[in-house]
Amino acid sequence: VMDVNTKKAGATVQNTMYGLFFEDINYAADGGLYGELVKNRSFEFPQSFMGWQTFGNVTLKNDGPFERCPHYVELGYAGHSERRTGLVNEGYFGIGVIEGEEYRFTVWAKAPKGTARIRVQLIDANTMGERQDFATAKLDVNGTEWKKYEVRIKSPRTDNKASLRIFLDGKNPVALEHISLFPVNTFKNRENGMRRDIAQALADMHPGVLRFPGGCIVEGECLDNRYQWKNTIGPVENRPLNRNRWEFTFEHRYYPDYFQSYGLGFFEFFQLSEDIGAEPLPVLNVGMACQYQNRNNEKAHVPVDELDPYIQDCLDLIEFANGDTTTTWGKKRAEMGHPAPFNLKFIAVGNEQWGDFYFVRMQKFVDAIRAKYPKIQIIGTSGPDSEGKNFDLGWEAMKRQKVDLVDEHFYRPESWFLTSGLRYEKYDRKGPKVFAGEYACHGKGKKWNHYETSLYEAAFMTDLERNADIVHMATYAPMLAHVEGWQWRPDLIWYDNVRLFKSVSYYVQQMYAMNKGTNVLTMTMDGQPIAGQEGQDGLFASSVIDKPSGTVIVKVINTSKQKQPVSINLSGIKGERKAETITLTCTDMMAENTLDEPEKIVPQEGSLNCEAGKKNTVINDEIAPMTFRIY
Ligand code: AHR
Repeated sequence: VMDVNTKKAGATVQNTMYGLFFEDINYAADGGLYGELVKNRSFEFPQSFMGWQTFGNVTLKNDGPFERCPHYVELGYAGHSERRTGLVNEGYFGIGVIEGEEYRFTVWAKAPKGTARIRVQLIDANTMGERQDFATAKLDVNGTEWKKYEVRIKSPRTDNKASLRIFLDGKNPVALEHISLFPVNTFKNRENGMRRDIAQALADMHPGVLRFPGGCIVEGECLDNRYQWKNTIGPVENRPLNRNRWEFTFEHRYYPDYFQSYGLGFFEFFQLSEDIGAEPLPVLNVGMACQYQNRNNEKAHVPVDELDPYIQDCLDLIEFANGDTTTTWGKKRAEMGHPAPFNLKFIAVGNEQWGDFYFVRMQKFVDAIRAKYPKIQIIGTSGPDSEGKNFDLGWEAMKRQKVDLVDEHFYRPESWFLTSGLRYEKYDRKGPKVFAGEYACHGKGKKWNHYETSLYEAAFMTDLERNADIVHMATYAPMLAHVEGWQWRPDLIWYDNVRLFKSVSYYVQQMYAMNKGTNVLTMTMDGQPIAGQEGQDGLFASSVIDKPSGTVIVKVINTSKQKQPVSINLSGIKGERKAETITLTCTDMMAENTLDEPEKIVPQEGSLNCEAGKKNTVINDEIAPMTFRIY
């Protein structure tokens, strides 16, 4: 028997409560969310033709029009009418095209002899049929100066693994730089936009906050490949390439051609946040490389007395987001097409850092941000939960520094999720608020992203909700993964080049985010406070009210292997009523959604009649084993 007191609305559930965390891991940016289909479009990879096959008379040059991406190619006559010059791009595990969709091919080009022509084709290089090309467009280049050219190609078929081929037509040479292919139909139809289906899946979660760009990406395995936001804004053609810190995690999944083009940079991040209705939450480097790789190596980090440029980067980012158009960085934002401020409210400094190395550096950031931007909320980090004593020391230090929120991470097994249902009851109410910035249930020795682990996440999340007075944000991690290019699992959304599927964990997150209410309601189970433990017959629960609509929302998770009768007393509500329900259930604990069966396990809507009990409305129900139900 559960009693929900609907008469007294408790702590506010923050709008930011359930959000998203984007990191360029698992080909989440290039090859994933970012719409670009061409790999190594500016020939800036260390091996200049990575991702390309060249034939005929192709010369690499490095005095191009973009100083930070100077390489380009010149295609010259192959020397015989029966020979050809050109290039083929392999994309990211192929180039995905969809039947009936248009693709925008753009290139910076010049014709040393005044005119030249290229042919641009979508091809299936492995076909047994007569033709490899299935879509072709011609493009004339006029003039000896660099100019941007565009031609559109419509695909007559869906192909997960097409390639892009460019032929030189005729004898006149042509120089080509920043060779790009985007779907015209990106999310919100932006030219430098996001892949529509993935971005839509993010929007459909109704996220309150979007953390970006990492994760370890922020730190780099050493400082030279840390994330530097200033390199990620301005014209995409001139954003320097960065080595992706996730090129290497495990040798058995090694991607030597994993780089960051920064086409999805900080401007695109702010814009995407706005487009999907999430508060942007940037994370910046605190002057330290990843501590996992550089334990106790002071030299891996920036000396404390040389931190100023890092702190300045942080202040400049706030100006880029919020400054008016007369400010240096606000002007750059306006030049990129967004004169209005992005209204940034939060900034995080450091990712999974701990110990004195972090504390001394963080204090300097806190002082500088407070002095210049007192209204911005600062998010520090406790380091990962698995760091034990360091984690507690981290929290103590963040309290002393009076940061607004602390970002804590936990990737833990089933047993942890089942026994941590009272985690936040114990947290100090006078200190900073909690941002559970990375978490996921990692099944021990089992499959990944399978139903059982997602159900335990749902159970644990009742604790986030009951403690909404102190837990202000929570974001599952990681968010995206390419099925052919991943380093880390489980993940929230998986895709190939033309399809995607949402994991069961995605649906759990979505069920919370779309039913978060505005205020916590207190509830008891069999007269006792919610224990959030196996002790209460494996039942976990929380409840909220949505004040504007007066809707009471109760979440119950049955983590036991038996069906259980539940009787929910809604004190303060009288008479017969109808309750809408959303149910996530499955009898196979190892089952998961896949590209071929993307909707194998999805929430089901229903309804049931509530009885007019002696005093209050009562929901009498029987909840199936291993089931998450929202009333
Ligand atoms: O989410 C994957 C990684 O896990 C993040 O980059 C890092 O913060 C954590 O260790």
